[in-house]
Amino acid sequence: MTTITLPAYAKLNLTLDILSKRNDGYHDLSMVMQSISLHDDVTVTLTEGNGIVCRCGMLPGDDSNLAVKAAGAFFTETGIPPRGLLIDIEKRIPIQAGMAGGSADAAAVLHALRALLAPELTTQKLEAIGAQIGSDVPYCVRGGTAFAEGRGEKLTTLKAAPRFRVVVCKPDFPLSTPALFKRSDTIEIVDRPDTEGMLIAIEEGDALGVSARVFNVFEAVLDAKERDVFTIKERLLSLGAAAAAMTGSGPTVFGLFIDESKAKSAFDTLKTGYAQTYLAEFV
Ligand code: C5P
Repeated sequence: MTTITLPAYAKLNLTLDILSKRNDGYHDLSMVMQSISLHDDVTVTLTEGNGIVCRCGMLPGDDSNLAVKAAGAFFTETGIPPRGLLIDIEKRIPIQAGMAGGSADAAAVLHALRALLAPELTTQKLEAIGAQIGSDVPYCVRGGTAFAEGRGEKLTTLKAAPRFRVVVCKPDFPLSTPALFKRSDTIEIVDRPDTEGMLIAIEEGDALGVSARVFNVFEAVLDAKERDVFTIKERLLSLGAAAAAMTGSGPTVFGLFIDESKAKSAFDTLKTGYAQTYLAEFV
């Protein structure tokens, strides 16, 4: 086998809490993460040449691309002699959206290289390699429903959360992750998610308990020019979402729906105002 195509799933934060700022500049977090069916397709092909060629639509295919970084780290960390690679990424996950699209592509490259070159590698080893690429990459290697701590790399797999339909809607402005973390350093976080309650609700398969506890502390640091986040949240709730919140460092907002037809009509409605609106489900 010399080529493989894998899906790279987007993630949502069902909860996101910032516990403390660390001496290394990162923050200790507590997050419940969930993969959704919105995905990129990542194809990795072994080539005769040297070096890594990455084709990723409008995005740069150089070392600034997390997928390319992941391939480099794979060879360095496993000691496997570097091979020529062609990485093709068909992007669907919006970029800089809080859905870990770049990290998901990196994780898919790690899975692909394991399948092609080193099937004996453990998932734990892949996650450790992923942690060098970015804080969300270990979770993207694992996927599903998981509890993430530390800077995001300490993972506990949870029972699969109740299967919600999801409407994902990205407003048309960027939000930088480091900038939002900096803003969070300047405020006292008063309202926090009930993470313990969320973990119990997931364990018990309690869909209403899960939706009641969806919460992201980053929403407290948004300013007036980012109020579209709250507008979208309100619209999702008025269109029948059981819960709505921003994911990660945003600006994407998601709504969780129990009823498939309500999800579809909320998608149709929001799509008219926001081009980057997607209908998905938990995976
Ligand atoms: O790990 P990653 O490169 O994805 O992180 C991007 C930036 O986000 C970091 O440089 C840091 O500013 C911030 N960050 C943080 N605490 C985390 C994760 C990310 O402060 N747990």
